[in-house]
Amino acid sequence: MAVLIATATDCLLEKNSRNRISKRSTLATPLAVLLIILAVLAIGFLIFLLHFNNPAHNRDCKKRVIGYYEDTGSAEIRDNHLEKLTHVVFSHQFLSAEGTIEFRSDRAKLKFEKLRNKAKRFGLKVMISIGGGQHFGSIMATECGRSKLTDSIVSFLEKNQADGVDLFWKWPTASDKSSYSIFVKELRLKLLEMNKEYNLSVTSAPAGIPGYWPDGFDLEEMIKHVDFMNIFSMDFYGPWGWLIGPAAPLYHGIAPRENFTVDYTMNYYACKLKETSKLNIVIPMDARIWENVKTALPRSEVFRKAKLIDGVVQATLFKSRRLATETGINFDAAAWDEKTKSSYIFDEKFKTFSSFENKKSIEAKLNYVNEKNLGGVWIRSVNMDDDTFSMLNDVNFRDYCSAKSFDTVNYLCA
Ligand SMILES: *[C@@H]1O[C@H](CO)[C@@H](O)[C@H](O)[C@H]1NC(C)=O
Ligand SMILES: *[C@@H]1O[C@H](CO)[C@@H](O)[C@H](O)[C@H]1NC(C)=O
Repeated sequence: MAVLIATATDCLLEKNSRNRISKRSTLATPLAVLLIILAVLAIGFLIFLLHFNNPAHNRDCKKRVIGYYEDTGSAEIRDNHLEKLTHVVFSHQFLSAEGTIEFRSDRAKLKFEKLRNKAKRFGLKVMISIGGGQHFGSIMATECGRSKLTDSIVSFLEKNQADGVDLFWKWPTASDKSSYSIFVKELRLKLLEMNKEYNLSVTSAPAGIPGYWPDGFDLEEMIKHVDFMNIFSMDFYGPWGWLIGPAAPLYHGIAPRENFTVDYTMNYYACKLKETSKLNIVIPMDARIWENVKTALPRSEVFRKAKLIDGVVQATLFKSRRLATETGINFDAAAWDEKTKSSYIFDEKFKTFSSFENKKSIEAKLNYVNEKNLGGVWIRSVNMDDDTFSMLNDVNFRDYCSAKSFDTVNYLCA
């Protein structure tokens, strides 16, 4: 009854208002035109504002832009950390001695959830990275250990609404090779059973280094079961050694390290695996500074020897750009080495040498990915950028994102 009355009243009201409108129609037409003009202007202004504040997101990038985010980083996760990425990977000591994975603290869990929720709003894939070398070997060695871990991973992803997993075992040895590759296959099968598009990746070692680290990976078998491989094409030179050089030189090494380059490593992988579009190179975000640096080695500015003090190399690795700046690296003063395509600063007066990536060296790496039909880059790690996101803001991923890579090997293979 009440409903009927209400409807009747509504109809009456509507009739009255229609009468009123028809009476004022002479005034209504210019008013409507004015309103439409105002609306168009307002929408235009809004679109302008959105574009201005939100440069095009990269989730539709045709190449991968994978950002690692470390739980240990002090940086609060922000939109700027994520807006250029296609995947974000939360890195944490997930692996327990018992061979299961779990958050090691409530703090880590909260950080992950915050990251995940933000990343999902950007349409990114959210993955977890399972690192921590010491337990892997014994877990992989038995069928029971592998099955317990694959079960644990699958239920973790489901429970925590993650989209995939990266395996970052640094590094398996030749005796682990077969069990690791069986594990990757078993994990892929279990992920596929879940009937969700979970992604699986493996981070694997640089080539060309004595001891040949890729020997612990059955690469040809693994590549079949992963969506992509993140190649650890970095740390060719670091603050632990007396020989100074860029962390991730694209080209050009000096004896006995002539093969310590991104290009040598990627040549090795591309020729062996053929599926170049599954391979990603790293962009290291950290910065290194050596002290007591001696004169340059012949024909190069970036390769130098460090003078040891009491047998120890005097050097620091900064996992925070802000800290590096506070300690005295003036990133704006970077010089460029064309042969290695890397940025550096040599301070003649204080005898320090710093090595780091910047706009120019990152663009060289993006061009390299394009040129060699690689699948993308992985950034290690986005939380290391400074408070104004100097590194991430500086790089134009848009051109790089315009074309997909195909599996064409653009290297000379033996
Ligand atoms: C991995 O993720 C992509 C989307 O980013 C999806 O198209 C693909 O199917 C996933 N892989 C698997 C095996 O589900
Ligand atoms: C560098 O790589 C080439 C080709 O694989 C190899 O012949 C050469 O021995 C390597 N050099 C060193 C110093 O390992």
